[in-house]
Amino acid sequence: MKNRLMTAALILLMVIASSCSKEEPGLKDAFEGDFLIGTAVNATQVFGKDEKAQAFIAKQFNSVTPEDAMKWERIHPEPGMYEFTLADSTVAFARKHDMTVIGHCLVWHSQIPGWVFQDSLGNPLTRDALLERMKDHISTVVGHYKGQVKGWDVVNEAVDEDGSLRKTKWLEIIGEDYIEKAFEFAHDADPDAELYYNDYNNEERAKRTGVIALVKKLQDKGIRIDGIGIQGHWHLDSPDFKVVDESISEYAKLGVKVMVTEMEINVLPTPVWLYGAEISKTAEYRDSLNPYVAGLPDSVQNMLTDRYAELFRLLLKHKETISRVTFWGVHDGYSWKNNWPIPGRTNYPLLFDRNYQPKPAYYAVIEQAKKMK
Ligand code: XIL
Repeated sequence: MKNRLMTAALILLMVIASSCSKEEPGLKDAFEGDFLIGTAVNATQVFGKDEKAQAFIAKQFNSVTPEDAMKWERIHPEPGMYEFTLADSTVAFARKHDMTVIGHCLVWHSQIPGWVFQDSLGNPLTRDALLERMKDHISTVVGHYKGQVKGWDVVNEAVDEDGSLRKTKWLEIIGEDYIEKAFEFAHDADPDAELYYNDYNNEERAKRTGVIALVKKLQDKGIRIDGIGIQGHWHLDSPDFKVVDESISEYAKLGVKVMVTEMEINVLPTPVWLYGAEISKTAEYRDSLNPYVAGLPDSVQNMLTDRYAELFRLLLKHKETISRVTFWGVHDGYSWKNNWPIPGRTNYPLLFDRNYQPKPAYYAVIEQAKKMK
């Protein structure tokens, strides 16, 4: 009798303890059945130098994009030399926790060494030689991860703000069909992998028109393209999410998946004139442009919360079209927005703070998911 009573008391205690537990649901669980929830990961996390990172990532996210590890300058730094260590560890970590891996990115104008476009004497490559080099890179990298990467950002940021093709070395040397070739090489290297076109500001109308034309051209030629990535490097006051709403619908009409691939909401003043400005010139403005070093004021926290809630309401409305929403960083401390476009600022663009604590925006987002099930 006494034993039974003690067992009953123990069970009761356990029930009370579990219902009082402040354990938050993982983001990925809140959006189960809606879309994948991803994050960008870096070497500190993948190599276990941040002890909390891996368990946290596995709990919150079900998709991983290497933040830098698969970019040309990292994975193929010298002619004929491939460096797979970090990317391999990233893929192994993701697979261990059943997370989808996204390959980022194959053909881009940025984070690519100058030698790619030159011969051994430093002269510009011919079209054929550059195509050959592109093919070697894509088949080596995609081939290396065949069957392990669900989808690739094949071409990144190829369209300008006005909708024309961006003037890159790829375009200059190969011509417009460099985009088609990149998709074809990727498809040949892993016929089962999904292939995406990825860009920023491509929710804006002019740029969107260029992206739609690009995708239609691939489709007309029978070249595989599975999705369009909207990077989602957004701000408290821009863009107007109406335009995002409209763009998701327009892209969906092409019959492709849409994904938000690098999302964050910058809370710091980032005047347009600063983009690409000299750091020496910006130093004198640093204090006024870095106002929240001691913490984010409630008023701004509230704006961030409302903005995230509005955004997820919109994304959930399009859940039939959207296959994945990836945050560009695990928590505020890891965001590239602390260092871009001005280095050394304190930004707060994500759902978790620097101590891995959920922010009010996290609860607002979870709330939206519950409401729209
Ligand atoms: C950023 C990374 O977050 C930084 O670590 C790196 O120094 C620069 O690139 N568009 C992209 C991403 O497609 O690869 C970029 O990532 C952000 C803009």
